[in-house]
Amino acid sequence: MNKNNKNYYGSLSSLVYDISKPPGTSIDGDIEFYTQELIRRDGIVLEAGVGNGRMAIPLLRKGISIFALDNSSEMLEIYNKNLKKYNMQSDSVHADLKDFKVDIKFETIIMPNGSFCLIDRNHILDVLNNFKNHLADNGKVYIDLIFPTSFKPGNVHEFDFLIDNDDYIKIKNKSISMNWIEQKTYTELEYKRNSTTEIQHFSLWWYGVEEFKNILMNSGFKDIHIIENYNNVKNLNLKTLTFIFGK
Ligand SMILES: C[S@@+](CC[C@H](N)C(=O)[O-])C[C@H]1O[C@@H](n2cnc3c(N)ncnc32)[C@H](O)[C@@H]1O
Repeated sequence: MNKNNKNYYGSLSSLVYDISKPPGTSIDGDIEFYTQELIRRDGIVLEAGVGNGRMAIPLLRKGISIFALDNSSEMLEIYNKNLKKYNMQSDSVHADLKDFKVDIKFETIIMPNGSFCLIDRNHILDVLNNFKNHLADNGKVYIDLIFPTSFKPGNVHEFDFLIDNDDYIKIKNKSISMNWIEQKTYTELEYKRNSTTEIQHFSLWWYGVEEFKNILMNSGFKDIHIIENYNNVKNLNLKTLTFIFGK
C-alpha cells in the first residue's frame, strides 16, 4: 500500500487512534446508532476503513458479521490484535476502497466517523462505483459526512500523548488551510516517539447536502435518506450527516 498517500495512517498515528479511541468508544452516539440499524439487517456488513475496530468490535459482539477493509497495514495489525483481545473473529482485507475486489455481495456497507471525507475528491466516484459493485441488490450503504465547523486555520496544538510511564508521543497538530473552492481542510500532524517521526498530511473534503445527493444519484444510487447527528436531538450543532441509500 502506498504509504506516501497523503491521509495514510502509519504506525504512530494508528497507535494514537487506538489508545484514544479503543474499541467501544462511541463518538456522538455513533455505535448505538449503527448497532440499532444493523441488528435489524441480515448478511455481511463491509466496514470501509475499519481502523482499529472501534466500531467493528462492539458490532461483532452483538452478533453482527463484519468484513473489514483498510488500506493501512498498521491499522489492520491493531485491528487483528484487538480481535484477539476481545475474542472475536472477522475476515479482513488490506486494500484501497477505490479498487478493492472481493467475491462477496454485501447486504450493508458502512463508512462511519467521517472516513469518507478522507477520500481524495478525485477518487470518490471510483469508491462509490466499487460500493455499488459489491452491494447486494437490496443492500444499503451508510456514509457519515462531517463538516469542518470548528476548523480554525492557523491553530497549532502541541501536546505529549502518554503511552506508558516515560513512553509518550509528541504531537504537533497544525490546522493549515481551509480551501473553500476545493471544499477541503488541510492539517499537518507530526508524531514523534524517540527517534521516529511520522508526518501525516491530512486533508478532509466536505460536501453540500444537495451536492452529495446528486453525486449519489448520478452514481446510480436511489432511496436516499439523511440522518442528522445519529438522531441525537440533544446535539444542537450539526456535525454529522449519515446518508443511507440503496441501488
Ligand atoms: C477515521 S479512521 C475510522 C476508523 C473506524 N471506521 C472508526 O469508525 O473508528 C479512517 C480509517 O479509514 C482508512 N482509510 C482511509 N482511506 C482509505 C482508503 N482509500 N481505502 C481503505 N481504507 C482507508 C484509514 O486507514 C483509517 O483506518
